[in-house]
Amino acid sequence: MHNRTKTLGEFIIENQTDFQYSTGELSKLINAIRLAAKVVNHEVNKAGLVDILGDAGDTNIQGEDQKKLDVLANEKFIQTLKNREIVCGIASEEEDDFITINSQDENHNNKYVVLIDPLDGSSNIDVNVSVGTIFSIYRRITPVGTPVQLEDFLQPGNQQVAAGYVVYGTSTMLVYTTGNGVNGFTLNPAIGTFYLSHPNMQFPEDGRIYSVNEGNYVHFHQGVKDYIKYCQKEEGDRPYTSRYIGSLVSDFHRNMIKGGIYMYPKSSVTNNGKLRLLYECNPMAFLAEQAGGLAIGGKSRILDVQPTELHQRIPFFCGSKNMVLKLQEFLDKYH
Ligand code: F6P
Repeated sequence: MHNRTKTLGEFIIENQTDFQYSTGELSKLINAIRLAAKVVNHEVNKAGLVDILGDAGDTNIQGEDQKKLDVLANEKFIQTLKNREIVCGIASEEEDDFITINSQDENHNNKYVVLIDPLDGSSNIDVNVSVGTIFSIYRRITPVGTPVQLEDFLQPGNQQVAAGYVVYGTSTMLVYTTGNGVNGFTLNPAIGTFYLSHPNMQFPEDGRIYSVNEGNYVHFHQGVKDYIKYCQKEEGDRPYTSRYIGSLVSDFHRNMIKGGIYMYPKSSVTNNGKLRLLYECNPMAFLAEQAGGLAIGGKSRILDVQPTELHQRIPFFCGSKNMVLKLQEFLDKYH
């Protein structure tokens, strides 16, 4: 008998009991993200029409202000999560401070916080290159029913209960983990349904792609410079191929499928690199490890870093296991 491809909705229901203490709340949360992803996908696909329909700052035909896509994506995700009353707090790349959600229901016992980068790589929008949304979910540590606190957001990545991304690419995909492997779903835009197209995604153990902004080479630490030279050396299966989209989600997605390493090191000008620990590196690191890859922040595992600030930056190296281990050898030489 032909095995029909599962939809994301079916997958969520079937796997609800996979996670401990499940009350269905996390499933509802993933469902809300699914919905917001579809809405943002629709907006992203219209991006090329901005010059025709009006620039950000203009007023559109309905008298509404045109919004920049990253602002719009932020609003859509926050609205969707708020409306469904399933989280107690949200932190976003677009907001200086975290948002406390006071449910209308006095007895509410929402226990999850969401950290989100609503539109990552947004400088790519103007040139029709893929962008993404990244999300990270934790169980709060302060008492349920009280207003959420900063410490609920500043948990190490190893405490994440779920994480994932949406890539708005040649097709739109939602990829996520709840700690039982990584699954990828592709949107059929004709009917607005995500289908399980990439079950149990795995980073190949070895890879031949390195992704780094080489324009910053002169500012890199010697260990990173040596590793890049190693990647370029003609020996064995090297030189490797260089691929850098400049959109973390897209670079990560390609490397996970084909095998590769993504690097955003610290440099002599950016002491902590560029990427944000809480809503870029941690969710990607969780996905990477769940898919058999690795993610380090220079000296140690990203997921074990104790965050100190909401918008903290950290050097980030992530990808196929053997590539990250090789890079680590180079970094260790100079520590
Ligand atoms: O903020 C994140 C980001 O846009 C990532 O998506 C991307 O990988 C990186 O910055 C690109 O930075 P740069 O332009 O410095 O290489």
